[in-house]
Amino acid sequence: MQRLRFKNNDTMPALGLGTWKSNPNEVYQAVIDAVKTGYRHIDCAPIYGNEAEIGKALSKLINDGTVRREELWITSKLWNNAHAADAVLPALKKTLEDLQLDYLDLFLVHWPVAVKPDVILPEKGSDMLSLDEIPISETWKGMEKCVNEGLAKHIGVSNFSISKLKDLISQATIKPEMNQIELHPFLQQNEMLDYCKDENIFLTAYAPLGSRDRMQAMKGADEPSLLENKVIVDIAIAHGKSPAQVLIKWALQRDTAVIPKSVNAKRIKQNFEAEDFQLTDDAMQRIADLDQHFRLVSGSFWTVGDSPYTLENLWDE
Ligand code: A2P
Repeated sequence: MQRLRFKNNDTMPALGLGTWKSNPNEVYQAVIDAVKTGYRHIDCAPIYGNEAEIGKALSKLINDGTVRREELWITSKLWNNAHAADAVLPALKKTLEDLQLDYLDLFLVHWPVAVKPDVILPEKGSDMLSLDEIPISETWKGMEKCVNEGLAKHIGVSNFSISKLKDLISQATIKPEMNQIELHPFLQQNEMLDYCKDENIFLTAYAPLGSRDRMQAMKGADEPSLLENKVIVDIAIAHGKSPAQVLIKWALQRDTAVIPKSVNAKRIKQNFEAEDFQLTDDAMQRIADLDQHFRLVSGSFWTVGDSPYTLENLWDE
């Protein structure tokens, strides 16, 4: 199993099970199937609305001896309504309670975006708090406390630009060790890849298969399909693999972690078996040529009404 080695020698399995969009009534079985298949890394977040069901599955797998806690790598994230420094630890405690765990392996700031404490998803600009009102450096103090209290082994961020990472690093006591971002052949983010390699920050690729099960409102009418892309399909046929396996292996060969979501036992297994082959240099080059800086998750839900957030200041591009 390919693993990413952290500075303190902890290792994270590069391939994990994604749980964004996994319905609560499907995710229990998906986690059971995944761990029985060999997955040891599960990616979670409270906003996915299914941590309690994941917790039931983890508890069963640990209690019946299928897996030991120390063999698992569990990631979760801080939602945007808990960015105040003193709100971070309570938010983590709630996640740990739902997941039925004593600690997380990795805890991430989900977005560089804050909303008011009583808001989940903003409907208007006044639901938001600007980064001047709650700077990320304040949120990060809360994240560092989680490490100091032993409730999170590693901390990082998600959806951060290079410029926001630089800013955070300049103020952090504990350096972020992960940035989880959208990464796939249509959004390769090579500058980010190089920057993070230099800074010893790992990347996790979300939406690696194109996240076609996103709610309709989040989808563009003319969105290109990764799984049906001709180059990906041709490479899959040439390697005797599925398009999904090509997309997963591409992420692994770029030394990123990758978290394909599935709630289907056959696809969970198929995705896991993406580790068992190698893409040729020629195939990697042909995939490199597919880059078109196309975001599936545009972030436009943070720019409602007179929000202080714009797509420009969110992505810094
Ligand atoms: P399902 O959960 O029914 O398997 P992403 O990881 O990019 O968010 O994509 C998740 C979407 O891709 C889901 O709709 C998921 O459906 C589907 N999916 C997962 N694995 C495969 C696969 N091996 N082949 C085709 N589609 C897949």
